[in-house]
Amino acid sequence: MDSELPYEFREHDSKASVVWNRTSVTQAMREQLNGHAGKCVWFTGLSGSGKSSLANALEVELNRRGYHTMLLDGDNIRHGLCKDLGMGEGDRTENIRRVGEVARLFAEAGIIVITAFISPFRADRDAARALFDEGDFIEVHVDTPLDICEQRDPKGLYQKAREGRITDFTGISSPYEAPPQAEVTLKGAEHGQQELLAQLVKRVI
Ligand code: ADX
Repeated sequence: MDSELPYEFREHDSKASVVWNRTSVTQAMREQLNGHAGKCVWFTGLSGSGKSSLANALEVELNRRGYHTMLLDGDNIRHGLCKDLGMGEGDRTENIRRVGEVARLFAEAGIIVITAFISPFRADRDAARALFDEGDFIEVHVDTPLDICEQRDPKGLYQKAREGRITDFTGISSPYEAPPQAEVTLKGAEHGQQELLAQLVKRVI
C-alpha cells in the first residue's frame, strides 16, 4: 500500500473522469476533536461464530469508555446499502468492497468503526485492509469450529443449507478462507464472552 500518501492521492480507478476535491478539515483534525484516532476493527468468521455478539459487546464497551464508534453488521447492511447483492462469490466481493469503503470513510471521520461480516475471501479482506494506514486495520478472526457453529445454528440456516434449501452457504457449499495472520484470533468456543472481550479491548485501544 502506498501508505505514505494521503488517501486522496492513492491510485483510484474510477470509470468517470473525476478529480479529487481536497477538503480543508483533515482526518487528524477530526481525530483531535474526538480525542482519539479513527480505525477499523474488522471481524471475520463463519455464520454463528459469534462475530456479531462480540462486535456489539466491543462497541458497548468502547462507547461506555467514551470512544466514538460505529458498528456495521452484515445482516443489517444487507437490508440497505447491499440489498441488491446475493451470496455468490462476485456479490460477496462487492459486498466487502462497499463495506471497506464505508469503513474507510468512518475512520476518516475519526471514528472507531467495527465491522462484522463473514468476509470469507482473503483477497477481499486484504483489499479492505489496503484502504487503511498500517496499524489502523485490526483483523479479528472469530475462530469457532464449523461443527459448533452448526450446532448453534441461531438462524436455522445451516439446517436449510444441509437440506439444499440455501445455496452457496459458507462452510457447507461455499469456502471460508481463514486469515493466516489476523491481528487477533479469538477462540469462540473455548472462552466466554467476557474473556474474549477483555482480549479484544486490550488490542484495540
Ligand atoms: S459475506 O460473505 O458477504 O461477508 P455477510 O456477512 O454480509 O456475508 O452476510 C452473512 C449473513 O447472511 C449470515 O449471517 C446469514 O445470516 C445470512 N446468509 C444468508 N445466506 C447465506 C449464505 N448462503 N451463506 C452465508 N450466510 C448467509
